[in-house]
Amino acid sequence: MTSIVEPMRLRGLALRNRIWIAPMCQYSVDAYDGVPTDWHRVHYGALAAGGTGLLVVEATAIAPDGRITRQDTGIWNDAQVDAWRPIVDFAHAQGAAIGVQLNHAGAKASTYAGFGRDGDARGSVPVDAGGWQTVSASDEQILGLAQPRAASTAELEAIADAFVAAAHRAVAAGFDVVEVHAAHGYLLHQLLSPITNRRDDRFGGDLAGRATLLLDVVRRIRAELPELPIVVRLSATDWTEGGVTPDDAAQVAAWAIGAGADAVDASSGGLVLADIPVGPGYQVHLAERIAAEGVVTSAVGLVETAEQAEAIVASGVAAVRIGRAALRDASTPIRWARELGADVDWVPAQRLRAY
Ligand SMILES: Cc1cc2nc3c(=O)[nH]c(=O)nc-3n(C[C@H](O)[C@H](O)[C@H](O)COP(=O)(O)O)c2cc1C
Repeated sequence: MTSIVEPMRLRGLALRNRIWIAPMCQYSVDAYDGVPTDWHRVHYGALAAGGTGLLVVEATAIAPDGRITRQDTGIWNDAQVDAWRPIVDFAHAQGAAIGVQLNHAGAKASTYAGFGRDGDARGSVPVDAGGWQTVSASDEQILGLAQPRAASTAELEAIADAFVAAAHRAVAAGFDVVEVHAAHGYLLHQLLSPITNRRDDRFGGDLAGRATLLLDVVRRIRAELPELPIVVRLSATDWTEGGVTPDDAAQVAAWAIGAGADAVDASSGGLVLADIPVGPGYQVHLAERIAAEGVVTSAVGLVETAEQAEAIVASGVAAVRIGRAALRDASTPIRWARELGADVDWVPAQRLRAY
């Protein structure tokens, strides 16, 4: 049976294990220019030194108005690429593969981060206070945030262009992987879900229509960057009647692989308030549903112990991702390997005396 400490490949990329770090926004760009800072260098450096096989950095905006908050990182200009490069180089020096999650927040853009330069304000940043008019699939207001404007067909095509341009910038920065963020209620999820997509152009309609922008983005990145591994993150259920279902997600996952993606991550929710049965491994069944389609899948969500992670990978899911466990202890992958009694070479030489 497969173990979390076993290597795997994503396209041509070798990963030293199956314990991946989930993307986590740091909201730490106090200059509001999308350029990663000292915080990002130290934070991602610690995670890369902690033994992970694949570190995917936070939701990073493909365009300024795609930022969740003004404190988000970006990858729409060369200054940002230059600042990502040393983070990527350090991860490589530690033996970790590193990816970037590409995002457009749509109706969930232009919000306050709740700390840092933004102070403790919450909700939407008004346009006259440095925010901007958001765009979405339709003009449906979500989560009590400011009302978005329905993007035109041409605007959505320009957003697809920006995703592809961001993938090129990711490669220029040295990233090994791009992750297309189609989960957690952001723009690509706003398009996928019938709750928020009431369009009648080619980006709306049935599931295939609602998946068009996501699949266009994947297909174009694949065509232009044939070597680059692509992960797609889905919210595999909206946990709400009339929303995305696990079967819908499995279908979209299969289409995404057909369009050139290499793996799908099964997350959930984020579009509407819902009663989510949060508990250990509460999203694993969603990953198993997608993996049943023959898709290389990662599971995420309160995967907190080595034993639990082993059972998930043994069940046919390719990898686990950890979020908060890694925030508490950036060396969780090393700790788990040791708990399993595995003899691994992921401990930095500088730290060997601690083990
Ligand atoms: C501080 C924080 C920031 C997050 N930011 C992102 C993000 O940028 N992109 C994303 O897809 N998910 C984000 N998430 C969700 C995580 O990637 C992960 O799916 C979630 O925390 C569940 O995994 P866990 O139980 O191991 O923490 C974030 C979670 C946390 C705790």
